[in-house]
Amino acid sequence: MSKDDFILKAENLHKSYRMGATRLDVLKGIGLAVKKGEFVAIVGASGSGKSTLLHILGALDKPSKGTVKFESRDLNRFSAGDLNRFRNKAVGFVFQFYHLLDELSVLENVFLPAMAGRSLVGWLACRRWAKRRASELLAQLGLAERTKHKPYQLSGGERQRVAIARALMNEPRLLLADEPTGNLDSATGNGILEVLESLNRAGQTIVMVTHDERIAHKAGRTVMLADGKMKD
Ligand SMILES: Nc1ncnc2c1ncn2[C@@H]1O[C@H](COP(=O)(O)OP(=O)(O)O)[C@@H](O)[C@H]1O
Ligand SMILES: [Mg+2]
Repeated sequence: MSKDDFILKAENLHKSYRMGATRLDVLKGIGLAVKKGEFVAIVGASGSGKSTLLHILGALDKPSKGTVKFESRDLNRFSAGDLNRFRNKAVGFVFQFYHLLDELSVLENVFLPAMAGRSLVGWLACRRWAKRRASELLAQLGLAERTKHKPYQLSGGERQRVAIARALMNEPRLLLADEPTGNLDSATGNGILEVLESLNRAGQTIVMVTHDERIAHKAGRTVMLADGKMKD
């Protein structure tokens, strides 16, 4: 297999937090390789370092040691501008608590990532396209009738669908999901997993972290995170 088959490759990742005089070692040598088109679930108990790992994979945080390669390029070598583009375009994030902006409509929440990183002129030039894409994504996720709502007017499952649409806005090559069903009842959570499965069938690469093994089994491959290390 050529190295280009991996969209994401993490090697020997360590992450420690300094808390006063003590040091908390959360990640102690993580290796993870994800192929293009895969749906990987990382399962670990609460506090095992799942969010820490996902943030490092998406360049929202830096490891204390080790490398993350995205499409064979080492994130450690990215300039600040490269990192901003990477976070905004290459990856999409879905969080447990949605992180939607209540002042904005559902449609505005979804197209917001298309505004980020653009000048006013650049935005005006693509605004019509962005609104259309946001509407199409919302329709695809069963929310065609909710575009003018505010997030607080939606159910939890609907909010998470909006958050997924927002994460997909800039056509990310990698979708990162941090306990996307963690705040939902099991039927609604299953609906969200079905959305992720269908995105994956259409070619979307997904890395999801969860504490729930039943949820994880819906993914194509499951790895365990325990004691700061990965176990198959
Ligand atoms: N910014 C931080 N400073 C200090 N400790 C942290 C920080 N972020 C996370 N931790 C600690 O690291 C451990 C792993 O946290 P986290 O990655 O959020 O776990 P999980 O997502 O698996 O529940 C926890 O013990 C947590 O308290
Ligand atoms: Mg977490």
